Amino acid sequence: MIMDGNGRWAKARLLPRSAGYPAGVKTLERLIEAVFELDIPYLTIFAFSTENQGRPSEEIDGIVKLIPKYFKKALPNFLKKKCSIRIIGDRNYFSNNIREIIASAENQTAAFKDRAFTIALNYGARAEIVRAVNCAIEKGNPLSETEFASCLDTAGIPDPDIIIRTGGEHRLSNFLLYQAAYAELFFIPDLWPDFNKKRLHEILEEYGKRNRRFGK
Ligand code: FPP
Repeated sequence: MIMDGNGRWAKARLLPRSAGYPAGVKTLERLIEAVFELDIPYLTIFAFSTENQGRPSEEIDGIVKLIPKYFKKALPNFLKKKCSIRIIGDRNYFSNNIREIIASAENQTAAFKDRAFTIALNYGARAEIVRAVNCAIEKGNPLSETEFASCLDTAGIPDPDIIIRTGGEHRLSNFLLYQAAYAELFFIPDLWPDFNKKRLHEILEEYGKRNRRFGK
């Protein structure tokens, strides 16, 4: 899920752009509820990209300060639903406090194998692929695609069937470029804080009608 359009949503309400992010988290909470209801086993969200580091500091702070709050509030639900939490991306960018909070959430949920909620934080697909190539070089032998995938941040998580981007732009913006090879793409005009269960159901219905041939 590429959750685009938070800043525009806030601007349209004459609010500072950063007011769009707490509104976006509320939408995320509703999405997760729907994902559990529908028994969708894997959800990956693009919460902060490596490129977002270039934004004004008040906007970065507006997103980063939501991370500890979100984990504190959401963790009991993930434990109850037996869903693991995974972080992909380069976490060294974040403070010790945030790194400890995310490591603790990952550790407490690591044993849950049937469902995974993955948060891309300071994530960029090109940086991920370069990390994976370096991992492959260290292994020393030519790798199969499966072995290479085990070097990616998403090791153990299946490739996405569906990628949804809200906010009207038609691009992937460095999200899961390797894994998206055969994903069905949905670009929808709704700004992320306006995304809702009805729209998710419409997308799933449309997905059901698509003929996935995987090149065959
Ligand atoms: C793009 O919207 C989206 C982001 C930069 C990050 C979105 C993050 C969240 C909604 C919350 C993060 C979640 C957690 C768990 C902390 P944009 O504001 O760039 O959209 P625009 O196109 O309107 O400018």
